[in-house]
Amino acid sequence: MNPSRAPIIAGNWKMQHGGRSGCELAASLRRELGDPRGVTVIVAPPFTALAAVSAELDGSPIAVAGQNLHAAPSGAFTGEISAAMLSEAGASWVIVGHSERRQLFGETDASVAQKTAAALSAGLRPIVCVGETLEERDAGRTFDVVLSQARAVLDALAASGGVHALAYEPVWAIGTGRNATAAQAEEVHARLRALLAETSPALAASTPILYGGSVKPDNASALLACANVDGALVGGASLDAAQFLAIVAAAHRA
Ligand code: 13P
Repeated sequence: MNPSRAPIIAGNWKMQHGGRSGCELAASLRRELGDPRGVTVIVAPPFTALAAVSAELDGSPIAVAGQNLHAAPSGAFTGEISAAMLSEAGASWVIVGHSERRQLFGETDASVAQKTAAALSAGLRPIVCVGETLEERDAGRTFDVVLSQARAVLDALAASGGVHALAYEPVWAIGTGRNATAAQAEEVHARLRALLAETSPALAASTPILYGGSVKPDNASALLACANVDGALVGGASLDAAQFLAIVAAAHRA
């Protein structure tokens, strides 16, 4: 990590923990976190648990994120949630373009760009996810894929006033127990930062780039020690307070 960027540790609960167990987890995190010492700690519960988890964390240093949003401000979009609704439910961040959304729900670079812009215009801070599949990595296309996904949101990020984050999540490392090595993560993060620098050095310097994909207490320190890894987007290990807080502690030490 670079000391000029505050580290971010975000837990993506995915479709796990409804209101009841989500509030229990949030209460444990609140009780046991103590002083986050400059680390931004975020949890992203499912939509139905957002308001209750936000209430549970009210006044605590832990921020809440949505896992997705619709790009329109309102309208006839059955089953969808707008940025303003997330904000009203207590979210200040939102994950955009997670690979599960791209792969399973047909999200494209264009829709991810629209959602990113919609989040920003409603005052939500987007965490925009990029990442290659194993097939793309094996074909030597990692940089092509990741950089073109990031290029799609560059204009929105450049206009965001520095409130956004990027997350590199190699698809082959998500939920597989197979994390990228620190060297593999750093290589991609450095390329992403170089892409941001083409727009402006200030954008490159101010954008936190998180790593996600099987981050656990035992590999977090090595990943977070990389110069261009500014935090972690954690799936499975964020479902357990002790594991998630151990990753937050690794960010303190990095
Ligand atoms: P895992 O940590 O379970 O691999 O999930 C990563 C992820 O997708 C976070 O958004």
